[in-house]
Amino acid sequence: MNILVTGGAGYIGSITVRRLLEKGYNVVIIDNLSRGNKFSIPDVPFIQCDVADEKVGEVIKQYNIQAVIHFAAYAYVGESVENPGLYFENNLKKSLILLETLRKNNVNKIIFSSTCSTYGDPEIVPITESEKQAPINPYGLTKLLIEKALQVYNKNYGLKFIALRYFNAAGASYDVGEHHRPETHLIPLVLDVAFGRRDKIKIFGNDYPTPDGTCIRDYIHVLDIADAHILALEKLDSISGFYNIGTGKGNSVKEIIEACRKITGHEIPVEIVERRPGDPHVLVADYKKIQQDLGWVPKQDINDIIRDAWHWHNELEKKHLTVVTSGYFDPIHAGHIECIHLAKQLGGKLIVLLNNDQQCALKKGKAFMPLGERKIILEALRDVDEVFISIDEDASVCKSLEALKPDIFAKGGDRLISEIPETPICRRLGIQIIDGLGAKIQSSSDLTGLKQII
Ligand SMILES: NC(=O)c1ccc[n+]([C@@H]2O[C@H](COP(=O)([O-])OP(=O)(O)OC[C@H]3O[C@@H](n4cnc5c(N)ncnc54)[C@H](O)[C@@H]3O)[C@@H](O)[C@H]2O)c1
Repeated sequence: MNILVTGGAGYIGSITVRRLLEKGYNVVIIDNLSRGNKFSIPDVPFIQCDVADEKVGEVIKQYNIQAVIHFAAYAYVGESVENPGLYFENNLKKSLILLETLRKNNVNKIIFSSTCSTYGDPEIVPITESEKQAPINPYGLTKLLIEKALQVYNKNYGLKFIALRYFNAAGASYDVGEHHRPETHLIPLVLDVAFGRRDKIKIFGNDYPTPDGTCIRDYIHVLDIADAHILALEKLDSISGFYNIGTGKGNSVKEIIEACRKITGHEIPVEIVERRPGDPHVLVADYKKIQQDLGWVPKQDINDIIRDAWHWHNELEKKHLTVVTSGYFDPIHAGHIECIHLAKQLGGKLIVLLNNDQQCALKKGKAFMPLGERKIILEALRDVDEVFISIDEDASVCKSLEALKPDIFAKGGDRLISEIPETPICRRLGIQIIDGLGAKIQSSSDLTGLKQII
């Protein structure tokens, strides 16, 4: 069977694609890479495009697509509260366009990534599929409206659909882990503290009506979610409907932090802050319906989830991180070379943003080595994967950071983090700033390598 996977460069999508391949399905991915990672895409046909793009119809014809798994969406509750229009546009409008494309191209099977956020603040927990759906944030509302559209397409055009309402996806598998930028999900954030990337974890409210006062969520291993899609595909001919995907067991924020402390051996400092708008206090699934109809049961528990996520953070994530550093980079200055070498240690790919001659002249009085020569030498360095040249002043680095969205910005120069224009951009995009790599550059900042040799 030929399956089109939208959002296959994302966290759950890319793991599900690997599971589909194992089971013998032919898979084609479309993803606009607005949130996903190219490195997560396995070796299958990949078309970089939007789900609302006209190209999707051509892809369906070219690959003789028989069913679609629709993961592509924005999935940050907080962002949807701040910017609901973005969610109505990307999640709702574009999904409706996709449904029309499927109808026009005679694809009549779809599996849709829905969410427990469609339930809002449920009255009865564990939540069954018949619980009232009253989302309390725009993200949940967009997903609910697509569920409604699926029912209409089912009635009017015979579209066969299964909407899987995932609870909190977590864990790692097949060398893929959670790599959202910015990250908003609890387990990767807590592990970031254990890893040393953050100082502490913020607990948003400790006065909820729960045993320890913190919110309770049902964490489900991403591989269990992937398996639910395989079972759903097998049953799509005979069943259309909505299913919860959760473990039936809830863990509070404090319990997750404690479990992470045990697995990582790190003390993980916490800070209690105000509640966040749009956070229900308890979300736990009743999964009997999918167990009965599809034979699905969760196989992994919270310790498996944290253990796999931690293993991924420790062993595997680093090779996927992109590091950007910027500066004059005189390649025969030992301090500059050291800075580049240290920057490369931080991740798998190093991109250097190279100041042009005018910038060098402006700041140093003159360009110490012509741009073309600096670029050639830098590109030849083993540690450097790509070199881009600045086209104007500081704004050029800022624009490049916005376009490249690296994981880490390795600051080489001698200005303070609080002074540089890149800092607010990095904070907004969740890019980690690493300082202090240019110690040797700073100590001899007016002595370029060229001058020393002369
Ligand atoms: N992660 C969770 O805990 C969770 C829980 C419930 C539901 N979901 C749903 O599961 C799906 C996958 O979630 P995820 O955590 O893997 O998210 P993700 O951000 O890792 O993946 C989403 C992918 O969709 C792509 N995308 C977004 N809009 C697109 C568009 N218009 N056209 C083409 N590609 C587009 C992104 O580039 C990204 O690769 C989403 O629909 C999400 O709402 C996730």
